[in-house]
Amino acid sequence: MTAAMPFIISDLRQCPQFFDTVAERIWRAWWEPDGHPLAYIQTRLRENLNGSQIPFALVAHADNEFLGTSSAIASDVPARPQFSPWVAAVWVEPHARRRGIGAALVSRAAGDCFALGFSRAYLCARPPRSGFYERLGWRTIERHVGPDRLSILIQDAAPEPSELKGSRP
Ligand SMILES: CC(C)(COP(=O)(O)OP(=O)(O)OC[C@H]1O[C@@H](n2cnc3c(N)ncnc32)[C@H](O)[C@@H]1OP(=O)(O)O)[C@@H](O)C(=O)NCCC(=O)NCCS
Repeated sequence: MTAAMPFIISDLRQCPQFFDTVAERIWRAWWEPDGHPLAYIQTRLRENLNGSQIPFALVAHADNEFLGTSSAIASDVPARPQFSPWVAAVWVEPHARRRGIGAALVSRAAGDCFALGFSRAYLCARPPRSGFYERLGWRTIERHVGPDRLSILIQDAAPEPSELKGSRP
């Protein structure tokens, strides 16, 4: 990993000045190639700003410099509607990569889901990207799902100390 870069992670609701940048990055990375208009993603991203707990979007930034984003959404893979919530749309600005920001964005999104009471978080990735998440402690539970042949990975919330069987005070 290259030198550390100071950053903080905020909920997009607390830093709406990054809304347009987040929408543009998500659109360019995942939606523009399929011909979707930017307005479609702006509408979807606006759902992150209402009062509901999920979806939410996170922003990694250094003061007003945008460094990256991640989201938690209710459903991501149509073939697996029973799984929820999903960590999604993990993006780090090219100049800020390999400094731990992606790992922090993934960890914070999952941690915020656990804090909301979910005991498991899901994410999907194309096989070349699965290794990134496995190194962060995610476990692959399925491969080749749906037309994009995605891998599905999970992370479980750490059990409360009182739930640990056989634990000693
Ligand atoms: C994937 C991505 C989010 C990683 O962000 P990042 O800030 O560079 O990741 P980190 O610095 O936190 O790296 C975490 C770990 O993954 C490793 N890693 C990061 N990018 C990697 C890559 N391209 N290939 C292999 N390992 C990688 C790092 O070495 C690090 O491991 P370490 O702690 O053992 O050194 C970033 O490359 C990106 O935005 N890519 C384009 C969008 C994308 O593909 N998103 C994921 C969609 S599933």
